[in-house]
Amino acid sequence: MRYIDDFVTSYNKSGTLRFHMPGHKGRAVTGCEELDITEIKGADYLFEPEGIIKKSEEQMARAYGSAAALYSTEGSSLCIKAMLGIIRMRYGGLRVLAGRNCHKAFIDGCALLDADVRWIYPARASSSVCSSFITAEDIGRELEKGTYDCVYLTSPDYLGFMTDIGACADVCRKHGVPLLVDNAHGAYLRFTENDLHPMSLGASMCCDSAHKTLPCLTGTAMLHIAKGCEELASGAKGIMSMFGSTSPSYLLMRSLDIASDMLACGDLPERIKQTEIAVSKARAAIEALGFKTVGSEPLKITVWAPGTGLSGDALAQELRQRGIECEYSDPEYLVLMPSVMTTEDELDRLVAAFSEIPKGTETDRIKMPVLSPCERAVSIREAAFSPCEDVSPDEALGRICARTISGCQPAVPVAVCGEIINKDCISVLKAYAIDKVSVIK
Ligand SMILES: Cc1ncc(COP(=O)(O)O)c(C=O)c1O
Repeated sequence: MRYIDDFVTSYNKSGTLRFHMPGHKGRAVTGCEELDITEIKGADYLFEPEGIIKKSEEQMARAYGSAAALYSTEGSSLCIKAMLGIIRMRYGGLRVLAGRNCHKAFIDGCALLDADVRWIYPARASSSVCSSFITAEDIGRELEKGTYDCVYLTSPDYLGFMTDIGACADVCRKHGVPLLVDNAHGAYLRFTENDLHPMSLGASMCCDSAHKTLPCLTGTAMLHIAKGCEELASGAKGIMSMFGSTSPSYLLMRSLDIASDMLACGDLPERIKQTEIAVSKARAAIEALGFKTVGSEPLKITVWAPGTGLSGDALAQELRQRGIECEYSDPEYLVLMPSVMTTEDELDRLVAAFSEIPKGTETDRIKMPVLSPCERAVSIREAAFSPCEDVSPDEALGRICARTISGCQPAVPVAVCGEIINKDCISVLKAYAIDKVSVIK
């Protein structure tokens, strides 16, 4: 069923005079205005839903087998802050055991809510700040030593590596600690051949960016609360509203509504399974051409570039010259993100483009430095709200990081606010071509 879509389209057709916001009055400026409405009678309220939004969210929750699916028109970034806020509301504190490969939104949430974070670094040293090689054993070991209000993991990571969420959830359950998962990259994982969605694997809450992998508009996301964790849903909308705009976009809610219909009543789950097969064939064809692919996320194709003697950025440029734009590249990796909207013909064109790329001889130059833990000087919150100044990476040695430093993408912090910037951190900053660091004055 389409609840928000039906309301918005029939309101538009009714020809009602719009003496309400927005100021465009439904007349085309960019082209999408006629369906862009506000909270008029019958349109419901995102943060206090009782009508069409509530019904649409319930349909989405049914599609995912979750107790609740709360819509966000401000991405997973909003859901991540809300998940932390919900834990704080429920337990009165916010002691978080978190994987270090988190997105910047997590640090922002920690600053706003004054979280006390202990990091888990991957036991297997990785040259990428994004990587998610955190195991259930790592978590179990830390939970034996300390007391936490929640565990927070990011999986899939930006490169398409996945943590064993099922095993991590078992350990968390044993210790009576809720597991929160940043599943921004995995909204489709409920519908792959093997159901790999955090709600199915035992997490207590997770966020899904619908816009990253489903056929949805940019900014759409949802916060899932698991069956068995219903107590976390009480007051959740109120917490979400603290971080969100009071003018959520109906264009985006309509997009989520249509996706919920396609997932619950349409053939989108079947199309996701077919895409999974098509992408796996394309990945195999790229491998057969001598490119090493890594990661286990079904719909990502990640090439580990040094195996080809080129950098990831050089590979991206080769594809660009052939009319193909990737999601992400750095010196070591190239990430491609097909979806159900990618045709088999387009996957064939991708493979054909790879077949034309000459191998290089740069392998020795592509060695990314490994991040080592930085010592904490002050809390995340204290640092985030301290007066600061921008300096070059070399000038930052020994100074306290004031604002989380991350490249635009993947937005995984190289240094977290409150930490003393060490030598390894500076090498990593330079490798990611980050030339400005904000430190406490
Ligand atoms: C791992 C991860 N988490 C969270 C986010 C934030 O998601 P959104 O852009 O939907 O706010 C991103 C964005 O790229 C991400 O890569």
